[in-house]
Amino acid sequence: MNGQAGRVFELRRLEKKSARINLPQNGKIFAFTSGKGGTGKTFLAVNIAAALANKGKKVLLIDFDYNLSNVHILVDVLPEKTLSYFFLNKNLLPDLITEVEPNLYFIFGDSGLEDSPKLSDGAIAHFFEQLRRIEHLYDFIFIDTASGTSREMMEVLSHVDQTILITTPEPTSVMDAYAVLKLLNGTGFTGRKNIIVNKSEDKNTADITFLNLKTAVDHFLKIEIKFLGFANNDAAVSRSIMAQVPLVKQSADSRIAKQINDLAANLTKNIQVANIQQAG
Ligand SMILES: Nc1ncnc2c1ncn2[C@@H]1O[C@H](COP(=O)(O)OP(=O)(O)OP(=O)(O)O)[C@@H](O)[C@H]1O
Ligand SMILES: [Mg+2]
Repeated sequence: MNGQAGRVFELRRLEKKSARINLPQNGKIFAFTSGKGGTGKTFLAVNIAAALANKGKKVLLIDFDYNLSNVHILVDVLPEKTLSYFFLNKNLLPDLITEVEPNLYFIFGDSGLEDSPKLSDGAIAHFFEQLRRIEHLYDFIFIDTASGTSREMMEVLSHVDQTILITTPEPTSVMDAYAVLKLLNGTGFTGRKNIIVNKSEDKNTADITFLNLKTAVDHFLKIEIKFLGFANNDAAVSRSIMAQVPLVKQSADSRIAKQINDLAANLTKNIQVANIQQAG
């Protein structure tokens, strides 16, 4: 980056950082993200949301995998209105919310729209302004994003309170997770960065995967990341997606359902800590 461009970039990063000052470190708006595609973001977002709803938490899940959305398929809903209605100024955000089960609310995304509206930084900022107006109605707000480091997705991540970065144990996936953290750091993001290791053979493999990522992040980025937990590689996942029923409902007693419930419990603890800190 030349001198001029470098200064503009740094100025923008500092502006973003100061805009974040009033945002809580452990707030309730989470983005599910990954470097590599297919790590399990959508599966985990839907199932952790369903697990939390089952425990009486009110959850809103927004499908922001722009124009390649999948969430509706996992819960077998044909959406009437989608996120693009907001960006095309056809509807306000609350008009797009569908209650699919008690405590479980969705804003569905679009798939293959030919005239999909372009998401400028201003449009994304406007979306988050509107989302902040309704956040008090929910215990958790999850945003399922597209994988990778596109400008739009990094912009989305820069507005959330916390990220949940999903990696698998494969070194390529870990490397791409590191790349997301590096770019996220460059946006001035200061929220909590949670990591889930998905499709792991066992707990030991997940622990080693997290440690490898943490070692690189500690050394080169000098930022903190938190291990939220792991999920096994399990054939029950594919069965639940084929049946279009969340796994935590379909195979409630399975080992992987228990792991997802543990992830949900860890998120609940994370928010409770935030509430105590705020009260203090
Ligand atoms: N724990 C798991 N065990 C086995 N298969 C899994 C697991 N988690 C996800 N999968 C499978 O991995 C594939 C990708 O899952 P999913 O669509 O949730 O990933 P994604 O990160 O949202 O992908 P994309 O980047 O395309 O949005 C699916 O076929 C799903 O069945
Ligand atoms: Mg997905």
